[in-house]
Amino acid sequence: MEDPRGKYLMETYSRLPITMRKGSGSWLWDTEGKKYLDYTTGIAVNNLGHCHPSITDAITSQAATLVHTSNLFNIENQGALSEMLVSNSFADRVFFCNSGTEAVEGSIKLARKWGAQNGGRFAVISTEGAFHGRTFGALSATESEKYREGFSPFLEGFHFAPYADPDAIARLAAETNPCAVILEPVQGENGVIVPPPGYLRQVREICGKSDMLLILDEIQVGMGRTGKLFAHEHEDIRPDIMALAKALGGGVPCGAVLATEDVAKHFTPGAHGSTFGGNPLAAGAACAAIETILQENLSERAGELGDYFLDRLEDVRKKYPEHISEVRGKGLIVGIEFSDRDFAQDCFSVSVKNGLLVILTVERVFRILPPLNTNEEEIDFAVAVITKSIEEVVSSG
Ligand SMILES: Cc1ncc(COP(=O)(O)O)c(C=O)c1O
Repeated sequence: MEDPRGKYLMETYSRLPITMRKGSGSWLWDTEGKKYLDYTTGIAVNNLGHCHPSITDAITSQAATLVHTSNLFNIENQGALSEMLVSNSFADRVFFCNSGTEAVEGSIKLARKWGAQNGGRFAVISTEGAFHGRTFGALSATESEKYREGFSPFLEGFHFAPYADPDAIARLAAETNPCAVILEPVQGENGVIVPPPGYLRQVREICGKSDMLLILDEIQVGMGRTGKLFAHEHEDIRPDIMALAKALGGGVPCGAVLATEDVAKHFTPGAHGSTFGGNPLAAGAACAAIETILQENLSERAGELGDYFLDRLEDVRKKYPEHISEVRGKGLIVGIEFSDRDFAQDCFSVSVKNGLLVILTVERVFRILPPLNTNEEEIDFAVAVITKSIEEVVSSG
C-alpha cells in the first residue's frame, strides 16, 4: 500500500508500494499481514536475517547502558570490534564511520595521504561498471552516468579500466602515475559480475610492481557473503586498504576502513574523523554480528548454499533458455540475467506478488542476496516462486 506521507520525502527512491512491519529470520511481513521471503537482506545488510537474537540482545542491552559518546573518549565496544576485525583480516588498524560511501571516502583519502608522501601522487584507477557510493569521492570513482548526471565537476585524477582486465590497469598505471587502484571483488550493483579466478591476484601483482595501493571495496561482498569472511581471501591476497559497511553493523549503520600499519600510519590525529563512527551501539551490534558469523561458520555455509542455489537456478535456466541468458554468483550473491528488460520487470513484479523479494538491477538482472543462515528449503521456495513467476509471465503473453 502507498504511504500518503511519501509526499514529505525527497523522491530519491522508486519504492515498491509495500510497507514492512516486522521481520524474523529470512521472512518479512507487511502491514497487511502478507509474508515474503526476503532475499534482498536490506541490500546485503541483514546477513543473519531479521532480528537475530544475538543482534537484538546486543542492541537492547547496549541501548540501556550507553548509546553514544563520540570519539573524544575511548569506546569499549570499538576496541573489541577493532581487535576482532584485525585478528580476522589482513589489517593492522581500523577507522570507523557509518556507511559504505564514507568507508570509500576514507579509503580514498588514506590512499591520497599515502600518495602525497610517496611521490606526490593522487590519481586513482577504478573500474568501469563499479559502484562505490554517492558522496563526491566515491562518486568520482563510480563511472556510470546514471549516478553522475548533473553533479559535475568530480574530483580530479580518476581513471577507469574495464572490469576484469588486469592489462588495462597496468596500461593506465603506466600512463597516469596513480597512488591506488580501487575495485569490488564482485561487482554487485552492476549485475553480479564475477571476475575470472586470478583477477585479484594479477591486480595485486600490478599494484606491487607499480608501487600503488590496492583498495578493495568489500562493502557488499564482505562479512561472509561469498563463502569467505572477505571475498579476496578466495585468491589468498592482501589488499592495502579495505572498505566495509552494510552487514558489518548487523543492521545498525556502521562502516570501516581497514589498512596495513604502513598505510594506516599516514592518518595522524585530525587527518580524518566522524562524530558517530564506531559508537557504542553500532560497535556493539557489529561485534555480535561478526561473532555470530564466525561461531556459526556462516561464511562456509554461504559457500555451500550458494552452490546449491546456483545448481537449482541452472535447471531453471535450461528450462527457459530463451528468457534467462545466464545465472552466476559467488556464495550467496547470486544473479539471474534475463534476455529482455520488460520480461525481467514483469517477472520481478510477479515474484513480489508471489512472496519473493529480490533486487532488480541494471534493469534485467535479479540480484539475490539471501541471509547467510538461510537453508535449502527456503532456497527451494525461492526457486519455485521464480519458476512460477516466469511461467505466469510467459502464459500472459
Ligand atoms: C560495493 C559498494 N560500495 C559502496 C556502496 C555505498 O554504500 P552506502 O549506501 O552504505 O553508502 C555500496 C552500496 O550499495 C556498494 O554496494
